Amino acid sequence: MIDTRLEKALGRQINHEFAAAYNYLGMAAYFDSLSLDGFAHWMQAQHDEEVVHGMRLFRYLLDRGGKIDLAGIPQPRSEFSSSVEVFESALEQERENTVAINHLYELATECNDYATKSHLQWFLDEQVEEEKTIEDIIAMLRLAKDDMGAILFLNEKLGARSSNQDDSQEA
Ligand SMILES: [Fe+2]
Ligand SMILES: [Fe+2]
Repeated sequence: MIDTRLEKALGRQINHEFAAAYNYLGMAAYFDSLSLDGFAHWMQAQHDEEVVHGMRLFRYLLDRGGKIDLAGIPQPRSEFSSSVEVFESALEQERENTVAINHLYELATECNDYATKSHLQWFLDEQVEEEKTIEDIIAMLRLAKDDMGAILFLNEKLGARSSNQDDSQEA
């Protein structure tokens, strides 16, 4: 049987993943309203990934006999002042998530719950990838500044992201 503290913490993480998904959906709507469909597509793919993350934890917790009380998801932001601001907000969200996953791992260690540690390993690796990808996009957006040609090039590039380029099919 899973430790109650770990059960609760995993339940909160499920909520974080779905809240993150919803936030990415708000970002997708923002980019779509600017007709930057490549950026919108990328954000929608992020949404889909976060849903997969939430479901991985949901399934895991149920398989371990844990009890799940699904909490509400806060309203996401869909107004931003610039493309860079959107990705900065995404990066902040991913960094907070990394901290949350680290805490979960610490708690699983404290509880001597090796199966949970093993399950969380995937999330630790995923967070490294998430932060790196978003940092790279922010760097490119900063280089592009107000150059519309460069922005449209990035829009094309991000629009080419395929769903099998991410890890969601592994879930
Ligand atoms: Fe996630
Ligand atoms: Fe993420």
